[in-house]
Amino acid sequence: MPKKTLPETPVRGARKPVSPTLRRSRPAALPARPVAYRGDNLYLDGVSLASLARQHGTPLYVYSAQQIKDRLQLFQQAFRGRAHTVCYAVKANSSLALLRMLGEMGAGFDIVSGGELERVRKACRPALARVVFSGVGKQEWEIDAALKAGILLFNVESEAELAVLARRAKALKRRARFALRVNPDVFAETHPYISTGLREHKFGIDITLARAIYRKAARSPWLEPAGVSVHIGSQIRKVEPFAAALDRVVQLVHELRADGLDIRYIDAGGGLGIEYTGEAFDARRQVEQYAAALGRALDGVAAGSPVAAGLPEQTHLLLEPGRFIVAQAGVLLTRVLFVKQNGAKTFVVTDAAMNDLIRPALYQAHHEILPVRKRPGSKGLVADVVGPVCESGDFFARDRDLASVKAGDLLVLLDAGAYGMTQSSNYNTRVRPAEVLVQGREAQVIRRRETLRDLFGPELLA
Ligand code: LLP
Repeated sequence: MPKKTLPETPVRGARKPVSPTLRRSRPAALPARPVAYRGDNLYLDGVSLASLARQHGTPLYVYSAQQIKDRLQLFQQAFRGRAHTVCYAVKANSSLALLRMLGEMGAGFDIVSGGELERVRKACRPALARVVFSGVGKQEWEIDAALKAGILLFNVESEAELAVLARRAKALKRRARFALRVNPDVFAETHPYISTGLREHKFGIDITLARAIYRKAARSPWLEPAGVSVHIGSQIRKVEPFAAALDRVVQLVHELRADGLDIRYIDAGGGLGIEYTGEAFDARRQVEQYAAALGRALDGVAAGSPVAAGLPEQTHLLLEPGRFIVAQAGVLLTRVLFVKQNGAKTFVVTDAAMNDLIRPALYQAHHEILPVRKRPGSKGLVADVVGPVCESGDFFARDRDLASVKAGDLLVLLDAGAYGMTQSSNYNTRVRPAEVLVQGREAQVIRRRETLRDLFGPELLA
């Protein structure tokens, strides 16, 4: 970001001051993805994907450190006008190396399990104080671990959970700061599996019941009502549903403050979507529009907002983006095993499968597919891209227009950085891929490929 004022004495070697007109111009759009062809070869930032496949084998997840940092900074910049913390949703990609990188940039974390809490502890201990703990089914050991770690906020999803939290807080003699995750009954247009903000979903507490629950909780010496949180779903491309949900939250915060509660945190959740197709995508603009929409709701001036006045300045905004930060930074690199013809259909069989990236099978999600080496002049083909797993649902694309593909070729599935590795499994006794983090022209293995020995480790034979 350009500085607000110019230094009075030019620093030696510093760039010439930019003219005021240029200074006001918008910063250049960031590329939506870190991959680009150099000649006929596909690179991720400064590293050739073919060379990574040679060195580390396939399937392989590859991430761009630069893009992940850029995306976090987009959030941090878009909200710089108000007190906020970006609590990256660990479930999107929980690699320790990525968590460390984000934590060192000041991110907090949104976790949903004791396991994710341990990841934060391992990756960046100081960030434990910036953790929010979400999820409908927290267990006692997980609550205990989070209380002892001194996390920022429990996002509580039911009265029953609140009772357990109070009991564990008392047992450990640690007051629990909490927010109720309210269900605002707002519809967000997305895949039904990842929409969460309607009354019929399992998530959150009906917003109309929340006030009474807060009042009751406030009587416990072990519970500290400190915030209100909301999350309406994932891969949401329009900003209006976020604003509508936040409007309702802001109204509740006013009521709670009128009841004498010190509600300081507003957790707006995650869910901002990305573009999975080849359409142009301006991430900076998307975040700025999102920030503006949330800002209008927070300031109480959204069209039709029931709130007359904005919230006082001590409100601290929490954000829980996952996908937006990491999805487009990552690709899944895979090798074509066979190209086979069944009747009229052509199948490209890759060494990656639904156990490595389940999004197409589970949500009919679209991922763009590119050849790692272009063959200029060759004619394309229309094919299903499928994995070796014994399920018809094991596909990455159906009737996709591809460049000419032959056995042995490398392909990449784009936008695989979020909910790729974290949703992988060992189905069909397949080892999970290795992961590589690219920083400029350097590539570093951040998780080695599993071995069959790893898989058999926990099993017992009489
Ligand atoms: N906060 C809460 C409480 C959540 O439940 C989620 C995601 C997030 C934040 C982060 O949402 P994001 O910014 O990443 O959209 N596996 C699905 C997505 C499931 C999202 C679950 N909750 C997929 O691959 O599309």
